[in-house]
Amino acid sequence: METDQKLLEKLRQLEEKYSQTGQDIEGYLEGLLLSNYLPYWDYTHVDTLLTLQQPKTDFPDEKIFIVYHQITELYFNLCLHEIEQISNNGRDVRPNGEDRGWKDQLDPDFFLARLKRINAYFDALTKSFEVMVFGMEKEQFLKFRMALLPASGFQSAQYRKIELASAPIRNLLQKDHRDEFSNEIPKEEIANAFQYMYWKRGAIELSSGRKTYTLQQFELKYEDELIAFAEKYHNQHIWAKFLSLPKDQQAREDIREEMRQIDLHVNVKWPLMHYKSAARYLGREDSDVPATGGTNWQKYLPPRFQKRIFYPELFTEEEIENWGRIPQ
Ligand code: HEM
Repeated sequence: METDQKLLEKLRQLEEKYSQTGQDIEGYLEGLLLSNYLPYWDYTHVDTLLTLQQPKTDFPDEKIFIVYHQITELYFNLCLHEIEQISNNGRDVRPNGEDRGWKDQLDPDFFLARLKRINAYFDALTKSFEVMVFGMEKEQFLKFRMALLPASGFQSAQYRKIELASAPIRNLLQKDHRDEFSNEIPKEEIANAFQYMYWKRGAIELSSGRKTYTLQQFELKYEDELIAFAEKYHNQHIWAKFLSLPKDQQAREDIREEMRQIDLHVNVKWPLMHYKSAARYLGREDSDVPATGGTNWQKYLPPRFQKRIFYPELFTEEEIENWGRIPQ
């Protein structure tokens, strides 16, 4: 009996929900009767997912290389998912499921919770990078990588998007060009500033001074998309959202610490682990192995040379001076 009452109450609530939008609950109930149950494999599309690993050689360890890149891209995607919510102030979804779109104001606790998630994703990536550093036989790696030329993780568009959506673009420019631009580069100037992105200098052929083919291909495919993305995040990136908080909230140590951790994760901890893998596979006592993307990777990858910093305002002079040198 009690169950009947509960069921009736649910039906009443459903009727109310659908009548609010002028729809008929009966049609939906009919649809429910006809629908299939949802199995795990349809929800996760796991069978499709497992068709996406297509090694270029027969070396067994190449599978690890592909899968780990894909895992990383999925985590990057989650980071972008959180950043998008921050930039839009989060959705206003009511207990009955009604979605009222983006909120007008960023709630500081929502901001903090999303920053924590991004840090959790990057923490997982940094810790699991051992899979790359020690997880493959060097002999196999040095062979199968030759079949992957000129592809490189350098061409990860999501990695670039995380950077563009995290900080003012000026902080991503080559150091000697930053003074040509204001702190928050006006939207109309973003396309022009793009030529000075730090990563472009990394991918220059040492002998000829020309852009590497890896960079040329990357620009052909993604330059316009990345500029449009940067324009979308103009004044909506994580730092801008932080500045949009009331002063007392900006002073909160928990928020500032999560911001610092994002900077350290993206610009020091992950790059250091990544560099460790390059050193393990490409480093040699006599002369280093050229990278698939053709960069001068020994000078380009270590964070202490690049000193990419999203939020210099949140670090001491000493920390900035020692950026990328000591574990922070
Ligand atoms: C054995 C494993 C790896 C080695 C030896 C390696 C090596 C390199 C090298 C040498 C570069 C410089 C660009 C070039 O000349 O190719 C680079 C860049 C890059 N790689 Fe990897 N990589 C490895 C794994 C990964 C993984 C798993 C990812 C995940 C997506 C990744 C993402 C990147 C990114 C985003 C860059 C650009 C970094 C920047 O611009 O500062 N790499 N990698």
